[in-house]
Amino acid sequence: MFRVLAIAAIIGTAGACVLHLLVFGPPHKDAGGGKPEIRRFSVLERLAHALTLLSFLTLGATGFYAVLSGWPSLTGKLMLYHYYAAPAFAIGAALIVAGWSADAGFKPYDLRWMIQMGGYIWKRDHLPAGRFNAGQKAYFWIVATAGFAVILSGLGRLWPALDPTGQCVLLWVHRLSALFLVAWALAHAYLGTLANPGTIQAIITGRVSEKWAKAHHPLWEKSGKDKETSS
Ligand code: HEM
Repeated sequence: MFRVLAIAAIIGTAGACVLHLLVFGPPHKDAGGGKPEIRRFSVLERLAHALTLLSFLTLGATGFYAVLSGWPSLTGKLMLYHYYAAPAFAIGAALIVAGWSADAGFKPYDLRWMIQMGGYIWKRDHLPAGRFNAGQKAYFWIVATAGFAVILSGLGRLWPALDPTGQCVLLWVHRLSALFLVAWALAHAYLGTLANPGTIQAIITGRVSEKWAKAHHPLWEKSGKDKETSS
């Protein structure tokens, strides 16, 4: 049953992203380019993101390979890789939550971004957004809560402390929170690449152009926060 659910959620999310790209196209396709003169992410923030991304890919690939292959449970080498990647994921996610929670609190102006759906359906330019827009803030809290659930339930499966019913509940919490995270991560990857050209460089080089900042995060750009020239 979980196998069917996993296939439906993964194909459904990927399909929705492709459909969005074909029907609506990238809403801010003109915001790419320009001199990357504004610092957006520090080295520590980029390292934490890379650690979380790489460990998440390992955990997702090993866990879902077992599920999609119809194995009764995760075993052998795949289980070993899953064990090794787990602490890296916990550390990366904790660093991200600690570092970005101050910028992820919802503000009254986020309501406008939400109502206009970030301009992703009906094109709207310069919707109010601080360092993170309302969609990114929602994604942040989803990762924080589902990430906490996947880590706690994973630890609970490793060191069983509950009765068989409790352990079975833990397995389902682990499965569902993992699937929820994978589906949102697919959408997050789409939004950070194909849907918003020029955005991926922010998390790789840590810098963005003024044009990009004005189009995506006008209030953050206006505040001049973290602004410094690259020269
Ligand atoms: C600290 C983090 C994590 C720990 C300690 C952990 C631990 C475990 C353990 C012990 C199992 C075997 C469950 C069992 O059969 O008893 C498992 C399975 C699995 N894990 Fe994780 N895990 C972690 C994070 C993740 C993440 C982030 C994902 C997804 C991206 C994930 C996806 C899966 C999947 C899909 C399975 C297979 C479940 C099944 O057999 O139906 N895990 N994990």
